[in-house]
Amino acid sequence: MTNDRASPWVRISDIATHAGQQVTLKGWLYNKRGSGKLQFLQLRDGSGFIQCVMSKQDVPEDIFNLASGLTQESSIIITGKVHKDDRAPFCGHEIHATGLELVSASHEYPISKKEHGDAFLMDHRHLWLRSRRQHAILRIRATIIRAIRDYFDNNGFLLVDSPIFTPNACEGTTTLFEVPWFNNEKAYLSQSGQLYQEATAMAFGKTYCFGPTFRAEKSKTRRHLNEFWMVEPEVAFFELEDDIALAEDFLCHVVERVLNQHEKDLSEHLERDLTALKNVTKPFPRLSYDEAVKMIQEIQSTVTDTELKEQLQIDWGMDFGAPHETELTKRFDKPLVVYNFPAQVKAFYMKKDPSNPKVARCMDILAPEGYGEIIGGGQREDNLDLLLKEIAHEGLDTKDLEWFLDLRRYGSVPHAGFGLGVERTVAWICGLHHVRETIPFARTLDRLHP
Ligand code: 4AD
Ligand code: MG
Repeated sequence: MTNDRASPWVRISDIATHAGQQVTLKGWLYNKRGSGKLQFLQLRDGSGFIQCVMSKQDVPEDIFNLASGLTQESSIIITGKVHKDDRAPFCGHEIHATGLELVSASHEYPISKKEHGDAFLMDHRHLWLRSRRQHAILRIRATIIRAIRDYFDNNGFLLVDSPIFTPNACEGTTTLFEVPWFNNEKAYLSQSGQLYQEATAMAFGKTYCFGPTFRAEKSKTRRHLNEFWMVEPEVAFFELEDDIALAEDFLCHVVERVLNQHEKDLSEHLERDLTALKNVTKPFPRLSYDEAVKMIQEIQSTVTDTELKEQLQIDWGMDFGAPHETELTKRFDKPLVVYNFPAQVKAFYMKKDPSNPKVARCMDILAPEGYGEIIGGGQREDNLDLLLKEIAHEGLDTKDLEWFLDLRRYGSVPHAGFGLGVERTVAWICGLHHVRETIPFARTLDRLHP
């Protein structure tokens, strides 16, 4: 069908500007009900959903019969007049249909209106993406990504992407995906673009990278993906406090943008409690690791559930697990900053606190309502000798890190940055139980398909 002038092809998202006009819509049948005289065809075209009403008296018999026999997800082209009607489902407008063309019939669409299990839906992810709930989530994801880019682009940061094939580990050697490289060399998929951002920050002052990140973690939790997206800003002449202030301001900006643009998606399609999100304002509460451990120990002493009690067991020097973060964040109604973790549980590049070298000048930001860590970062070790010691201590190969050491040889300065995981942020903002719905096609321990 060509785009005829009398009845131009429009998208549902633009329908309000065509009230009273004759239009053509191209899409898929989402749902249908009807009688011998009227058919209510719910159409989705990717940009939205709209109800098209077809009356038997307005169309030739074969067209009405075609409408009566349409099956879910058949692709169709509908022409008709746009009527503004506040009571109309979906978008306050409906189409009084006068024409219908079947592009391709869909037989026995596997996802019906009844409840399906998570595994079934994930196996059919390529089709599940057509649902209203997935539309809401993935549109919010896109808004979050746009808000992230806008924030850094408008605040003097230069986008300088880090490579994905890397010769060395950034976040520990146990979670590297190895890939064959040329001449019998090994490469690894990037766990973080940070080390390269340290170089670009020394070149441009304030930079960020934003791309996919890979971790061969064998964790089967609701927070872990093996492929996820991370944004990583890095700033020269920044110390830990500057870094925390940046992360705080940035996170408020992202949440505010989503609230401004997606209130309906959040409250109607995702049943998200908006008050929790409206609370995300500066300043965030801050706890040192020491204070956080004390708080967890207090919580632990009052817990009666023996399994949880065991999970919450913590002594100074241990990293937080998901149960620690969950219980801790339940005590706060805003994102929580925890800083100065024990150096022994953190990566080699973290700057030691000069007054207490057992502690690293790093921070995590934990999302409220039990969501846990969404940001990790801190100040980097800028002293060549201390960094060399740490590299040796971790058993890393200095040969692959000579370029990184050069940054400490030629005009080293204090610097800091952080990484925010997009999927955990989407899960928190949308109020989702699991990160698997926050990315178009999740990659986890038990899922490489579709
Ligand atoms: O805390 P992480 O490991 O920090 C880094 O990679 C630093 N190099 C970042 C930096 O300072 N430039 O990861 C940062 C964030 C986490 O807070 C979390 O949001 C996300 O990345 N993340 C994951 N998201 C999903 N699945 C996983 N397996 C994740 N691992 C980390
Ligand atoms: Mg972390």
